[in-house]
Amino acid sequence: MDNAMQPEDTPELRALYKGFEDSHLNPLWTQTGDLMPVHPKSRAVPHVWKWSDLLPLAERSGDLVPVGRGGERRAIGLANPGLGGKAYVSPTLWCAIQYLCPGENAPEHRHSQNAFRFVVEGEGVWTVVNGDPVRMSRGDLLLTPGWNFHGHHNVATEPMAWIDGLDIPFSQQMDVGFFEFGAERVTDNATPNYSQGERLWCHPGLRPLSQLQDTVSSPIGAYRWEHTDNALTQQLLLEDEGNPATVALGHAAIRYTNPTTGGDVMPTIRCEFHRLRAGTETAARQEVGSSVFQVFEGSGSVVLNGEVKKLEKGDLFVVPSWVSWSLQAETQFDLFRFSDAPIMERLHFMRTQVAGA
Ligand SMILES: [Fe+2]
Repeated sequence: MDNAMQPEDTPELRALYKGFEDSHLNPLWTQTGDLMPVHPKSRAVPHVWKWSDLLPLAERSGDLVPVGRGGERRAIGLANPGLGGKAYVSPTLWCAIQYLCPGENAPEHRHSQNAFRFVVEGEGVWTVVNGDPVRMSRGDLLLTPGWNFHGHHNVATEPMAWIDGLDIPFSQQMDVGFFEFGAERVTDNATPNYSQGERLWCHPGLRPLSQLQDTVSSPIGAYRWEHTDNALTQQLLLEDEGNPATVALGHAAIRYTNPTTGGDVMPTIRCEFHRLRAGTETAARQEVGSSVFQVFEGSGSVVLNGEVKKLEKGDLFVVPSWVSWSLQAETQFDLFRFSDAPIMERLHFMRTQVAGA
Protein backbone atom coordinates (compact mmCIF):
# COMPACT_ATOMS: atom_id res chain seq x y z
CA MET A 1 0.00 0.00 0.00
CA ASP A 2 1.30 3.48 -0.72
CA ASN A 3 0.85 6.79 1.02
CA ALA A 4 -0.25 8.77 -2.07
CA MET A 5 -3.59 9.82 -0.58
CA GLN A 6 -2.48 12.15 2.20
CA PRO A 7 -4.57 15.09 3.44
CA GLU A 8 -3.42 18.67 2.92
CA ASP A 9 -1.00 19.92 5.60
CA THR A 10 -2.95 22.62 7.48
CA PRO A 11 -2.88 24.02 11.04
CA GLU A 12 -6.16 22.15 11.68
CA LEU A 13 -4.57 18.85 10.53
CA ARG A 14 -1.53 19.45 12.74
CA ALA A 15 -3.85 20.10 15.69
CA LEU A 16 -5.65 16.85 14.92
CA TYR A 17 -2.34 14.91 14.85
CA LYS A 18 -1.32 16.55 18.13
CA GLY A 19 -4.64 15.37 19.55
CA PHE A 20 -3.85 11.82 18.38
CA GLU A 21 -0.43 11.99 20.01
CA ASP A 22 -1.76 13.34 23.31
CA SER A 23 -4.31 10.51 23.40
CA HIS A 24 -1.76 7.80 22.47
CA LEU A 25 -3.27 7.18 19.06
CA ASN A 26 -1.59 6.66 15.71
CA PRO A 27 -3.50 6.81 12.42
CA LEU A 28 -3.12 4.01 9.89
CA TRP A 29 -2.92 6.28 6.85
CA THR A 30 0.51 7.68 7.76
CA GLN A 31 2.22 4.31 8.18
CA THR A 32 0.63 1.64 5.99
CA GLY A 33 3.87 1.03 4.07
CA ASP A 34 5.57 -0.21 7.26
CA LEU A 35 2.56 -2.01 8.70
CA MET A 36 1.59 -3.83 5.53
CA PRO A 37 4.61 -4.23 3.24
CA VAL A 38 4.14 -5.88 -0.14
CA HIS A 39 6.36 -8.72 1.12
CA PRO A 40 8.19 -9.30 4.42
CA LYS A 41 10.93 -6.71 4.98
CA SER A 42 12.78 -7.84 8.08
CA ARG A 43 14.77 -5.40 10.19
CA ALA A 44 17.07 -8.38 10.68
CA VAL A 45 19.78 -8.65 8.04
CA PRO A 46 21.49 -11.69 6.55
CA HIS A 47 24.81 -12.15 8.33
CA VAL A 48 27.68 -14.64 8.72
CA TRP A 49 29.53 -15.31 11.99
CA LYS A 50 32.92 -17.02 11.54
CA TRP A 51 33.70 -19.87 13.93
CA SER A 52 37.33 -18.68 13.84
CA ASP A 53 36.10 -15.43 15.49
CA LEU A 54 33.60 -17.01 17.88
CA LEU A 55 35.72 -19.77 19.38
CA PRO A 56 38.68 -17.62 20.58
CA LEU A 57 36.22 -15.15 22.17
CA ALA A 58 34.41 -18.02 23.91
CA GLU A 59 37.77 -19.40 25.09
CA ARG A 60 38.74 -15.98 26.48
CA SER A 61 35.36 -15.83 28.26
CA GLY A 62 36.30 -19.19 29.78
CA ASP A 63 39.40 -17.54 31.28
CA LEU A 64 37.66 -14.41 32.56
CA VAL A 65 34.00 -15.16 33.30
CA PRO A 66 32.89 -17.71 35.91
CA VAL A 67 29.80 -19.82 35.29
CA GLY A 68 27.23 -20.18 38.05
CA ARG A 69 23.94 -19.11 39.60
CA GLY A 70 22.67 -15.77 38.33
CA GLY A 71 24.48 -15.66 34.98
CA GLU A 72 23.46 -19.33 34.65
CA ARG A 73 25.36 -20.00 31.43
CA ARG A 74 28.57 -18.88 29.72
CA ALA A 75 26.61 -18.32 26.52
CA ILE A 76 27.43 -15.59 24.02
CA GLY A 77 24.46 -14.68 21.85
CA LEU A 78 24.75 -13.87 18.15
CA ALA A 79 23.36 -10.34 17.76
CA ASN A 80 21.85 -9.61 14.37
CA PRO A 81 23.30 -6.26 13.17
CA GLY A 82 19.79 -5.13 12.18
CA LEU A 83 18.20 -5.72 15.58
CA GLY A 84 19.69 -2.90 17.63
CA GLY A 85 22.36 -4.80 19.55
CA LYS A 86 20.02 -7.31 21.20
CA ALA A 87 21.30 -10.88 21.31
CA TYR A 88 18.64 -11.89 18.80
CA VAL A 89 19.92 -13.72 15.77
CA SER A 90 16.50 -13.12 14.18
CA PRO A 91 13.17 -11.66 15.35
CA THR A 92 12.16 -15.09 16.71
CA LEU A 93 15.37 -17.03 17.33
CA TRP A 94 18.31 -16.97 19.71
CA CYS A 95 21.61 -18.62 18.88
CA ALA A 96 24.64 -18.62 21.16
CA ILE A 97 27.99 -20.27 21.51
CA GLN A 98 28.22 -21.83 24.96
CA TYR A 99 31.52 -22.75 26.62
CA LEU A 100 32.15 -24.98 29.62
CA CYS A 101 35.57 -25.61 31.17
CA PRO A 102 36.69 -28.93 32.72
CA GLY A 103 34.98 -29.62 36.04
CA GLU A 104 32.47 -26.81 35.63
CA ASN A 105 28.76 -27.11 36.44
CA ALA A 106 26.12 -24.96 34.76
CA PRO A 107 23.34 -24.97 37.41
CA GLU A 108 19.93 -26.47 36.78
CA HIS A 109 16.97 -24.29 35.85
CA ARG A 110 13.89 -24.44 33.68
CA HIS A 111 12.05 -21.98 31.47
CA SER A 112 9.13 -21.82 29.06
CA GLN A 113 11.50 -21.25 26.17
CA ASN A 114 12.34 -24.28 24.06
CA ALA A 115 16.02 -25.03 23.63
CA PHE A 116 18.39 -27.33 21.81
CA ARG A 117 22.13 -27.76 21.58
CA PHE A 118 24.13 -28.80 18.55
CA VAL A 119 27.74 -29.93 18.83
CA VAL A 120 30.15 -29.09 16.04
CA GLU A 121 33.21 -30.36 17.91
CA GLY A 122 34.23 -31.66 21.30
CA GLU A 123 33.30 -34.23 23.88
CA GLY A 124 32.96 -34.60 27.62
CA VAL A 125 29.84 -32.64 28.64
CA TRP A 126 26.66 -34.26 29.86
CA THR A 127 23.44 -32.25 29.94
CA VAL A 128 21.03 -33.47 32.60
CA VAL A 129 17.43 -32.97 31.47
CA ASN A 130 14.76 -33.69 34.09
CA GLY A 131 17.24 -35.96 35.87
CA ASP A 132 18.26 -37.86 32.71
CA PRO A 133 21.99 -37.44 31.90
CA VAL A 134 22.52 -37.01 28.16
CA ARG A 135 25.98 -37.30 26.55
CA MET A 136 26.90 -34.47 24.18
CA SER A 137 29.19 -35.46 21.31
CA ARG A 138 30.14 -34.15 17.89
CA GLY A 139 27.23 -34.06 15.47
CA ASP A 140 24.57 -34.71 18.12
CA LEU A 141 21.38 -32.66 18.48
CA LEU A 142 20.27 -32.43 22.11
CA LEU A 143 16.79 -31.22 23.06
CA THR A 144 15.60 -29.31 26.12
CA PRO A 145 11.93 -28.59 25.41
CA GLY A 146 10.23 -25.87 27.44
CA TRP A 147 9.81 -26.28 31.22
CA ASN A 148 12.24 -29.21 31.60
CA PHE A 149 14.90 -28.71 34.30
CA HIS A 150 18.37 -28.82 32.78
CA GLY A 151 22.00 -28.26 33.74
CA HIS A 152 25.33 -29.20 32.22
CA HIS A 153 28.65 -30.46 33.58
CA ASN A 154 31.99 -31.06 31.96
CA VAL A 155 33.67 -34.26 33.19
CA ALA A 156 36.54 -34.14 30.66
CA THR A 157 39.99 -32.57 30.82
CA GLU A 158 39.29 -30.22 27.89
CA PRO A 159 36.83 -27.32 27.61
CA MET A 160 33.87 -27.80 25.27
CA ALA A 161 31.93 -25.39 23.07
CA TRP A 162 28.61 -25.93 21.33
CA ILE A 163 25.72 -23.86 20.01
CA ASP A 164 22.42 -23.25 21.78
CA GLY A 165 19.26 -22.45 19.85
CA LEU A 166 16.14 -21.10 21.56
CA ASP A 167 12.91 -19.23 20.85
CA ILE A 168 13.88 -16.44 23.32
CA PRO A 169 13.07 -13.45 21.04
CA PHE A 170 9.68 -14.90 20.15
CA SER A 171 8.92 -15.59 23.82
CA GLN A 172 10.02 -12.10 24.79
CA GLN A 173 7.95 -10.40 22.09
CA MET A 174 4.89 -12.45 23.04
CA ASP A 175 5.37 -12.14 26.84
CA VAL A 176 5.03 -15.87 27.42
CA GLY A 177 8.15 -16.61 29.47
CA PHE A 178 8.35 -18.19 32.93
CA PHE A 179 11.59 -19.18 34.69
CA GLU A 180 12.55 -21.19 37.79
CA PHE A 181 15.87 -21.99 39.44
CA GLY A 182 16.68 -25.63 40.14
CA ALA A 183 19.62 -27.36 41.83
CA GLU A 184 22.98 -25.57 42.10
CA ARG A 185 24.72 -28.55 40.52
CA VAL A 186 23.42 -31.19 38.14
CA THR A 187 21.25 -33.68 40.00
CA ASP A 188 22.82 -36.79 38.47
CA ASN A 189 26.59 -37.09 37.89
CA ALA A 190 26.32 -40.34 35.95
CA THR A 191 27.89 -40.33 32.47
CA PRO A 192 26.04 -43.05 30.55
CA ASN A 193 26.63 -43.43 26.83
CA TYR A 194 22.88 -43.37 26.18
CA SER A 195 20.19 -41.49 28.06
CA GLN A 196 17.04 -43.11 29.44
CA GLY A 197 15.03 -41.34 26.74
CA GLU A 198 17.15 -42.86 23.97
CA ARG A 199 16.99 -46.34 25.53
CA LEU A 200 13.20 -46.08 25.58
CA TRP A 201 12.62 -44.40 22.22
CA CYS A 202 15.52 -44.83 19.82
CA HIS A 203 14.74 -48.07 18.07
CA PRO A 204 13.68 -47.34 14.48
CA GLY A 205 9.93 -47.54 13.98
CA LEU A 206 9.31 -49.14 17.37
CA ARG A 207 7.05 -47.31 19.82
CA PRO A 208 6.88 -48.44 23.45
CA LEU A 209 3.32 -49.50 24.31
CA SER A 210 3.73 -47.72 27.63
CA GLN A 211 4.01 -44.41 25.69
CA LEU A 212 1.00 -44.17 23.39
CA GLN A 213 0.11 -40.64 24.45
CA ASP A 214 1.43 -38.10 21.92
CA THR A 215 3.67 -35.38 23.33
CA VAL A 216 4.00 -31.75 22.19
CA SER A 217 7.80 -32.04 22.04
CA SER A 218 9.94 -35.01 21.19
CA PRO A 219 10.70 -37.38 24.10
CA ILE A 220 14.12 -38.05 22.55
CA GLY A 221 16.87 -36.11 24.34
CA ALA A 222 19.64 -36.85 21.84
CA TYR A 223 19.65 -37.39 18.10
CA ARG A 224 23.00 -39.06 17.48
CA TRP A 225 25.37 -38.22 14.67
CA GLU A 226 25.72 -41.89 13.66
CA HIS A 227 22.02 -41.98 12.67
CA THR A 228 22.05 -38.57 10.92
CA ASP A 229 25.22 -39.43 9.00
CA ASN A 230 23.93 -42.83 7.96
CA ALA A 231 20.55 -41.44 6.84
CA LEU A 232 22.29 -38.89 4.59
CA THR A 233 24.81 -41.42 3.28
CA GLN A 234 22.01 -43.79 2.35
CA GLN A 235 20.04 -41.05 0.54
CA LEU A 236 23.03 -40.32 -1.69
CA LEU A 237 23.69 -44.03 -2.28
CA LEU A 238 20.03 -44.53 -3.23
CA GLU A 239 20.32 -41.58 -5.60
CA ASP A 240 23.40 -43.24 -7.18
CA GLU A 241 21.29 -46.35 -7.70
CA GLY A 242 18.57 -44.33 -9.46
CA ASN A 243 16.05 -44.32 -6.60
CA PRO A 244 14.13 -41.24 -5.40
CA ALA A 245 15.69 -40.28 -2.07
CA THR A 246 17.14 -36.76 -2.17
CA VAL A 247 15.34 -33.39 -2.20
CA ALA A 248 17.24 -32.41 -5.36
CA LEU A 249 20.12 -33.90 -7.31
CA GLY A 250 23.12 -34.11 -4.97
CA HIS A 251 21.20 -32.71 -2.01
CA ALA A 252 20.40 -35.11 0.83
CA ALA A 253 18.45 -33.79 3.82
CA ILE A 254 16.67 -34.96 6.95
CA ARG A 255 14.32 -33.34 9.45
CA TYR A 256 14.58 -34.31 13.11
CA THR A 257 11.11 -35.37 14.26
CA ASN A 258 9.01 -36.09 17.31
CA PRO A 259 8.40 -39.86 17.11
CA THR A 260 4.96 -39.54 18.73
CA THR A 261 3.58 -37.24 16.01
CA GLY A 262 6.02 -37.31 13.07
CA GLY A 263 6.06 -33.49 13.38
CA ASP A 264 8.76 -31.10 14.47
CA VAL A 265 10.86 -31.84 17.55
CA MET A 266 9.54 -28.79 19.43
CA PRO A 267 6.50 -26.53 18.95
CA THR A 268 8.49 -23.44 17.92
CA ILE A 269 11.71 -24.76 16.39
CA ARG A 270 12.41 -26.97 13.35
CA CYS A 271 15.74 -28.75 13.07
CA GLU A 272 17.21 -30.22 9.90
CA PHE A 273 20.50 -31.46 8.50
CA HIS A 274 21.58 -30.98 4.88
CA ARG A 275 24.38 -32.65 2.91
CA LEU A 276 25.43 -31.49 -0.55
CA ARG A 277 27.72 -33.42 -2.84
CA ALA A 278 30.81 -31.46 -3.95
CA GLY A 279 29.86 -29.13 -6.80
CA THR A 280 26.14 -29.03 -5.97
CA GLU A 281 24.27 -25.72 -6.04
CA THR A 282 20.78 -25.38 -4.60
CA ALA A 283 18.02 -23.30 -6.18
CA ALA A 284 17.55 -19.85 -4.63
CA ARG A 285 14.71 -19.96 -2.09
CA GLN A 286 12.72 -17.33 -0.20
CA GLU A 287 10.73 -18.39 2.84
CA VAL A 288 8.59 -16.68 5.47
CA GLY A 289 10.26 -16.87 8.89
CA SER A 290 13.93 -17.08 9.75
CA SER A 291 16.59 -19.79 9.72
CA VAL A 292 20.07 -20.24 11.11
CA PHE A 293 22.62 -22.62 9.57
CA GLN A 294 25.89 -23.94 10.95
CA VAL A 295 28.49 -25.59 8.75
CA PHE A 296 29.30 -28.94 10.28
CA GLU A 297 31.91 -30.10 7.80
CA GLY A 298 33.30 -29.13 4.42
CA SER A 299 33.50 -25.82 2.61
CA GLY A 300 31.38 -23.86 0.20
CA SER A 301 29.35 -20.67 0.01
CA VAL A 302 25.95 -19.25 0.73
CA VAL A 303 24.39 -16.67 -1.56
CA LEU A 304 22.28 -14.26 0.52
CA ASN A 305 20.23 -11.78 -1.53
CA GLY A 306 22.77 -12.19 -4.33
CA GLU A 307 25.87 -11.75 -2.16
CA VAL A 308 28.28 -14.70 -2.04
CA LYS A 309 29.75 -15.52 1.38
CA LYS A 310 32.45 -18.18 1.82
CA LEU A 311 31.88 -20.71 4.57
CA GLU A 312 34.02 -23.15 6.51
CA LYS A 313 33.49 -25.58 9.38
CA GLY A 314 31.66 -24.02 12.32
CA ASP A 315 30.57 -20.83 10.51
CA LEU A 316 27.00 -19.71 11.22
CA PHE A 317 24.67 -17.59 9.13
CA VAL A 318 21.15 -16.28 9.50
CA VAL A 319 18.53 -16.00 6.77
CA PRO A 320 15.82 -13.49 7.80
CA SER A 321 12.30 -13.72 6.43
CA TRP A 322 12.02 -13.61 2.63
CA VAL A 323 15.76 -13.18 2.06
CA SER A 324 16.84 -15.23 -0.96
CA TRP A 325 19.37 -17.95 -0.13
CA SER A 326 21.15 -20.75 -1.93
CA LEU A 327 24.09 -23.00 -1.13
CA GLN A 328 27.13 -23.89 -3.23
CA ALA A 329 29.27 -26.87 -2.20
CA GLU A 330 33.01 -26.88 -2.92
CA THR A 331 33.61 -30.13 -1.06
CA GLN A 332 30.95 -32.41 0.39
CA PHE A 333 29.12 -29.82 2.46
CA ASP A 334 27.30 -30.69 5.68
CA LEU A 335 25.07 -28.10 7.38
CA PHE A 336 22.83 -28.12 10.44
CA ARG A 337 19.79 -25.85 10.14
CA PHE A 338 17.16 -24.59 12.58
CA SER A 339 14.20 -22.31 11.96
CA ASP A 340 10.93 -20.93 13.30
CA ALA A 341 8.96 -22.78 10.60
CA PRO A 342 6.63 -24.59 13.06
CA ILE A 343 5.32 -21.18 14.21
CA MET A 344 4.85 -19.90 10.67
CA GLU A 345 3.18 -23.10 9.49
CA ARG A 346 0.86 -23.46 12.46
CA LEU A 347 -0.32 -19.87 12.04
CA HIS A 348 -0.64 -20.32 8.26
CA PHE A 349 1.82 -17.52 7.45
CA MET A 350 4.27 -19.80 5.63
CA ARG A 351 5.04 -19.07 1.99
CA THR A 352 7.93 -20.33 -0.07
CA GLN A 353 9.23 -19.19 -3.44
CA VAL A 354 11.85 -21.14 -5.34
CA ALA A 355 13.67 -19.56 -8.29
CA GLY A 356 12.85 -21.32 -11.52
CA ALA A 357 10.10 -23.45 -9.95
FE1 LIG B 1 18.36 -22.95 30.04
